[in-house]
Amino acid sequence: MKNIVILISGRGSNMEALVAARDAGTLPVNIAAVISNRPAAQGLETAEKAGITAHYIDHKAFAERDAFDAALAECIDGFAPDLVVLAGFMRILSDGFVRHYAGRLMNIHPSLLPAFPGLHTHRRALEEGVRIHGCTVHFVTPALDHGPVIIQAAVPVLDSDDEVTLAARVLRQEHRIYAQAVRWFAEGRLRLDDGRVRLAGEPADGAVLVSPEVC
Ligand code: GRF
Repeated sequence: MKNIVILISGRGSNMEALVAARDAGTLPVNIAAVISNRPAAQGLETAEKAGITAHYIDHKAFAERDAFDAALAECIDGFAPDLVVLAGFMRILSDGFVRHYAGRLMNIHPSLLPAFPGLHTHRRALEEGVRIHGCTVHFVTPALDHGPVIIQAAVPVLDSDDEVTLAARVLRQEHRIYAQAVRWFAEGRLRLDDGRVRLAGEPADGAVLVSPEVC
């Protein structure tokens, strides 16, 4: 069974969704540890309650980004993960860190990348007046919110939406597609081919999931 380490910074609902999928028997992975860069992250308590080893490494204790990244990598590598899952981890990672985990570092981003990289994605989607918004799971490369797309989910943007309602609609899909992406990894079905993700055993469009809300 594959070993995974989950990195969080706050609430940890994506982490919780992965734990729930594991507990339901639909995600055959060992969640070796949950690590936060913020001591007060709510998700640390959730992980502990689920019986998962939970650590924090406070980025504020490090003067340099590289020093924090080195300490984080040392902690992660102590758990020998096959995959490192960024689940609401709100730190930019150095190129060296990303290279060290090339092909085994995943992120979830609350937009349909390459639209709206960075922060405040829901507000920006509303400001731009897009009719479709969503979320993306991708392998991490040194460029922020960039890298080979594994799966995306789309949701409609309603006239009645504000940032809160739109974020909630997207978050429900995040929880769904992150478990799916990690499951594919655990099953050994993801392959990188010339910078694009291929999914073994299903047609090419099997990697794109459009939520029933827009079907
Ligand atoms: C999610 O929307 C994630 O996509 C973004 O930050 C949020 C974290 O939520 N990067 P949670 O901590 O998983 O609840």
